[in-house]
Amino acid sequence: MSKTITPYNTAEAKKKQVQTMFDNIAPKYDLLNRILSFGIDVYWRNVAIKALKKYDPKYILDVACGTGDFSIAALKTNPEKIIGVDISTEMLEAGKKKIAAKKLENKIELIKGDSEQLLFDDKSFDAVTVAFGVRNFENLDIGIKEMYRVLKTNAPLIILEFSKPKIFPVKQLFNFYFKAICPIIGRLLSKDARAYTYLYESVSAFPEGEFFLQHLRDAGFKTTTCRRLTFGICSMYIAIK
Ligand SMILES: C[S@@+](CC[C@H](N)C(=O)[O-])C[C@H]1O[C@@H](n2cnc3c(N)ncnc32)[C@H](O)[C@@H]1O
Repeated sequence: MSKTITPYNTAEAKKKQVQTMFDNIAPKYDLLNRILSFGIDVYWRNVAIKALKKYDPKYILDVACGTGDFSIAALKTNPEKIIGVDISTEMLEAGKKKIAAKKLENKIELIKGDSEQLLFDDKSFDAVTVAFGVRNFENLDIGIKEMYRVLKTNAPLIILEFSKPKIFPVKQLFNFYFKAICPIIGRLLSKDARAYTYLYESVSAFPEGEFFLQHLRDAGFKTTTCRRLTFGICSMYIAIK
């Protein structure tokens, strides 16, 4: 069995460690996202939103919503309601402030919740999205099965997650940047010494591409696709129930 990658390498469950880590970095999370990705994360989110729009979803569940950037971007699909769930109270608080400042409370609701135990009925949503969240699940397959359960038939699960570029010299540059540079900037700005080392380690260990598609098929999804973005630094997965 492969080793579970955790933020702090302690005996605590991965979920608790992930929650603590995101609580710690929440005040600086958006800033670090923009700096470390040079703003490309906004482009990746937009690609996923464009894909989502084709399904014209009315009720969207944004799992591992964090500070709500993807939930806010998903408004472009003109849904009736977006519900974001996350295990980190501090990420949610930062998100709620943004949503209140934009007066979007009637459209977006952020609530505390665990992807592995979603508090919604079967077949409740027209789409489920996860941006940069699945890598952090303690039990990936339980999380995927739960998202499958709350989706309506023929509805999409759209996932963005980091992956590893394979071609020279992007692979080498990405490895150096992700392994050596990001942790230094992350440590300086977020004051969490481990968070951005965990980022590299968790991306390295994540079952990307065809391996991840197999997890989606195992959960019951009938059509699954993967599109690699920006030389494969990020991948967008679409799975239809
Ligand atoms: C890298 S952030 C992504 C946040 C947001 N989706 C975005 O695109 O900026 C990952 C988020 O996943 C959340 N998370 C990790 N495990 C989770 C779980 N089991 N259930 C719900 N949220 C989870 C973390 O608390 C964190 O806010």
